Amino acid sequence: MNEIKVGLLGLGTIGTGVAKLLMTNADLIAAKVGARITLKKIADLDITTDRGIALPADILTTNADEVLTDPEISVVIELIGGYEPAKRFVLKAIENGKHVVTANKALLALHGEEIYPAAARKGVEVLFEAAVGGGIPVISAIRGNMAANNFSTVFGILNGTCNYILTRMTKEGVDFADVLKKAQELGYAEADPTFDIEGVDTAHKLALLVSLCFGTRVTFSDIHTEGISSLSSVDIKFARDFGYKIKLLAIGKRDGDRVEARVHPTMIPVNNPLADVDGAFNAIRFTGDFIGPVMFYGRGAGMDPTASAVVGDIIEVSRNIVAGIGRRCAPLGYCDEAVATLPL
Ligand code: HSE
Repeated sequence: MNEIKVGLLGLGTIGTGVAKLLMTNADLIAAKVGARITLKKIADLDITTDRGIALPADILTTNADEVLTDPEISVVIELIGGYEPAKRFVLKAIENGKHVVTANKALLALHGEEIYPAAARKGVEVLFEAAVGGGIPVISAIRGNMAANNFSTVFGILNGTCNYILTRMTKEGVDFADVLKKAQELGYAEADPTFDIEGVDTAHKLALLVSLCFGTRVTFSDIHTEGISSLSSVDIKFARDFGYKIKLLAIGKRDGDRVEARVHPTMIPVNNPLADVDGAFNAIRFTGDFIGPVMFYGRGAGMDPTASAVVGDIIEVSRNIVAGIGRRCAPLGYCDEAVATLPL
């Protein structure tokens, strides 16, 4: 059987989940891909902490270049997060002709303009299903089976940490700081949790969704962003008394040649399905001109669901390698020359 060698940058919560999943379901994945996927190298600054999985010591390195320059590695999985050194590593992987799988919404929302054309020039893929909605396959649905639609709205609950905090504050009246700490322990929060609670992570994700759905390039700085850090238990109780739950909502709308994108706490009537999205779950609702309304729901943060999305991308790119198919279309799903013809 063919073998496809991959390299991993970042052995944090999600990186550990990816290594675990690639090992646990190795035979199943090989049968689905038609090739065995081998994790050849893992680079992280900390290679001594016990992650609870048995990794051969010789695949661990503190030197990212051992992944980025290894000619046998055809797919680089970037799970460091944040802007640097992730950006430098991703660009170097592309420059070296490697496909990239990443969960890094911050990087793509700010530097997609540099990364996507670099990938296009080298004819490699950049896949990022895990960047939005954890385990929910929303990016592949927009780029794939829903691609025929002209979308008019996309909105939803995109941050598991905030939703977990708001759920526990609503149901148990617990203190904001305590429940944030718990969200960090559960592996939901970003390395810098202010990205979660100030709405920044949600805005990064919305920038990707709006760009994918509407074919226009929206970056993080274009989005009005408010988080949940100034909400108190009293706000939540008052909302409840009037028949609402407070959720951190990402809202994207297209109206003719105008696109609106904003993130802020929103009062949701208790009989709206979004009000029932609890804990670290996410829900994302689209309206397309032919599909109509469609809603996705699932685990939006945490090791296992996010690893599922990352490994799904590794499987997709590996299948294309096996089939001898090069890069199929631009990462945002619009072929570059066609974007200019869209009515935006
Ligand atoms: N910190 C993110 C969240 C992780 O809580 O949703 C998943 O993107």
